[in-house]
Amino acid sequence: MATSEVGTVDPTADNKENYCETQDCNKPAKLQCPTCLKQGIKGSYFCSQDCFKGSWKVHKAIHKQKDTTGAKYNPWPHFQFTGPLRPFPKTPTRTVPAHIGRPDYADTGIPITEQLARQSCSIKVLSADEIAKMRTVCRLAREVLDEAGKAIKPGVTADEIDRIVHEASVERDCYPSPLNYYKFPKSCCVSVNEVICHGIPDTRPLEDGDICNVDVTVMYDGHHGDLNETFFVGKVSESRKHLVKTAYECMMKGIEIVKPGVRYREIGQAIQQHAQHHGCSVVRTYCGHGIHQLFHTAPNVPHYAKNKAIGVMKPGNTFTIEPMISQGTWKDVTWPDNWTAVTEDGKDSAQFEQTLLVTETGCDILTLRPEHDGKPHFMTQ
Ligand code: MF3
Ligand code: CO
Ligand code: CO
Repeated sequence: MATSEVGTVDPTADNKENYCETQDCNKPAKLQCPTCLKQGIKGSYFCSQDCFKGSWKVHKAIHKQKDTTGAKYNPWPHFQFTGPLRPFPKTPTRTVPAHIGRPDYADTGIPITEQLARQSCSIKVLSADEIAKMRTVCRLAREVLDEAGKAIKPGVTADEIDRIVHEASVERDCYPSPLNYYKFPKSCCVSVNEVICHGIPDTRPLEDGDICNVDVTVMYDGHHGDLNETFFVGKVSESRKHLVKTAYECMMKGIEIVKPGVRYREIGQAIQQHAQHHGCSVVRTYCGHGIHQLFHTAPNVPHYAKNKAIGVMKPGNTFTIEPMISQGTWKDVTWPDNWTAVTEDGKDSAQFEQTLLVTETGCDILTLRPEHDGKPHFMTQ
């Protein structure tokens, strides 16, 4: 498709400085995409014709959003998006058959046992029986993520990935833990490009060159297992590959130091050092967490250096490490859906997550991929 010329200054724009949306440009910009202006899409600034033309392949996706009647979908006309990604219409919430065990929030949206446990910050040491249950649920969560991974390609929607996760969970008699957790409306999180985490699966088709994180948590036999990976969609740019590889290495740097006696606050040091060395930043708002009968509980596990996390690792602790690594700023902004966390500068972010068990000598990665030596999908795609 040919690009049209830019050259329009939005008469309704306020005096706030705007920046070129081209990846890695970010120069001050006054020119706007005429198609976006016509469609009433805010933002879409470019510093020059060259940047507009160079961004066209990525940018033009914005013009395609339509709801099922063909009308333009724009739920938040006054929200300033930080990057090119836009929300698409969502399908109705899915249901879980009655025979599957449900967490306490499944009907109310309120994780009451988690809230009661907030008072005490003690880190649970699991019994042999509880550890066996964590091994089982983490294996099942991994199977579900791998099913989702097989479906990822250009043109597939995040909603379709959610459907696969939902059905793969139910097939294994698992409850998809995100469903109705604090009213989250879907069964997994799908976070594309500048989305840091907690993307709500919608009907946006994945595009060639996207990076797409799928975060799966399931509950089985009263225990949760949590993992995520960032996948390549078709042919991905070298800068996005570098980001994804760095995010994976950051997670592994954190995992490598896990053993009894180590302080939870030390994990962030190992991660940030590696991120910084590779020109990336570490998101601070979202952290790893204890996980077992509760989805999110003590310990809190920041991924950044010089944090004040409480606690020392003991055999029998189970928790996640899930660093979110960004190309530009570490700062995040939340969309008006109150879930989708995006980077403040609209640059890309990537994440990996595993659920870990502290053992006598180190740790077991309970959500490790059984094939390919445990390597993540992006390395074997
Ligand atoms: N799986 C995410 C995590 O790693 C949490 C998702 S909560 C949800 O902690 F409600 F957004 F699904
Ligand atoms: Co997760
Ligand atoms: Co998690």
